[in-house]
Amino acid sequence: MKTKETLLKILVNNKGRFISGETLSEKLKISRSAVWKHIAELRKEGYVISAVSRRGYKMGVYQDVFNRCAIASQLNSTVLGSNLIFCDEIDSTNNELKRLAANGAAEGTVVVAETQLSGRGRRGRAWNSKPNLGIYMSVLLKPDIAPENVQVITLAASSAVCNAIMPFIDIKPGIKWPNDILIENRKVCGILTEMTAEPEKIHSVVVGIGINVNHEEDDFCGELKNTAASLRCFSKSDISRSMLTARVLEEFEKLYLDFIKNKSTDRFLNIWRSFSVTIGYDIIIYQGDKTIKAKALDVMDNGCLLVQTQDGGRQLISSGEVSVQVPQNGKNQ
Ligand code: BTN
Repeated sequence: MKTKETLLKILVNNKGRFISGETLSEKLKISRSAVWKHIAELRKEGYVISAVSRRGYKMGVYQDVFNRCAIASQLNSTVLGSNLIFCDEIDSTNNELKRLAANGAAEGTVVVAETQLSGRGRRGRAWNSKPNLGIYMSVLLKPDIAPENVQVITLAASSAVCNAIMPFIDIKPGIKWPNDILIENRKVCGILTEMTAEPEKIHSVVVGIGINVNHEEDDFCGELKNTAASLRCFSKSDISRSMLTARVLEEFEKLYLDFIKNKSTDRFLNIWRSFSVTIGYDIIIYQGDKTIKAKALDVMDNGCLLVQTQDGGRQLISSGEVSVQVPQNGKNQ
């Protein structure tokens, strides 16, 4: 961790308490004037840090400073985010990470952006990527799994996001297969996984995660007005995007490393099932021009959805858009 990030971590961990310049200079192994220089930089980034002579420095009330230093200072991970890149503006974090991967970037490289100019969703859709409101990030992985099983990585990611957002909101989120995260029927997070592979071997997987964090109703236009929401709508206060980014990466790392080490999807599939708003429901699967009406039975080890079709037969679904039938109030997800 860089000195400024460590300094920030100390100040955040001691919020509301003064720490003397001397203590900080000892802990950071830098001079007191160097401490002062870093404090000045943090203030420029937007942190309110008071300085009182003979008492030292104190971090003020919470501010959502969203940059590399803010995320890194709160991140406790070993692989994911070990190379953390923050862009104020980029076409798409997935595009940027694919470019970096092509130039040899290591597993765990993460790209986060304040805003995306061409944020992409699944099925060629655009992803609303306004600045100051959301989290737009991509994670580079190089799992030793068969290309046809890549979907499990996405399921691990959606399970991780659900675990990470739970402490920030007052209501349990749901996952619609394969990876839309919904709260009260509105989408708060989408995941776009893109892979580079040979027929038998994956070179890299870019997992792009978009989370609507502090949007107000008016921040969504057109169709999104009725279908999207932000976590803030289900929380008592604004949510720190830097803290949430760190929590998502930590949760994702736990599930991913467990999967790689134990060669088992059990841990995250159980989490996925516990958040699922697909299993047990009547659903319609849209695959191009084709629609299949079925009941969702379970999610399988390779990420496919096991369904029972109307003729009583069983089928594994590996792709498609799912609409879930909720008979009680007639709403679809
Ligand atoms: C979906 O359609 O549900 C997937 C949305 C994925 C959006 C994220 S934002 C970060 C990353 N970069 C992109 O261009 N897309 C993904």
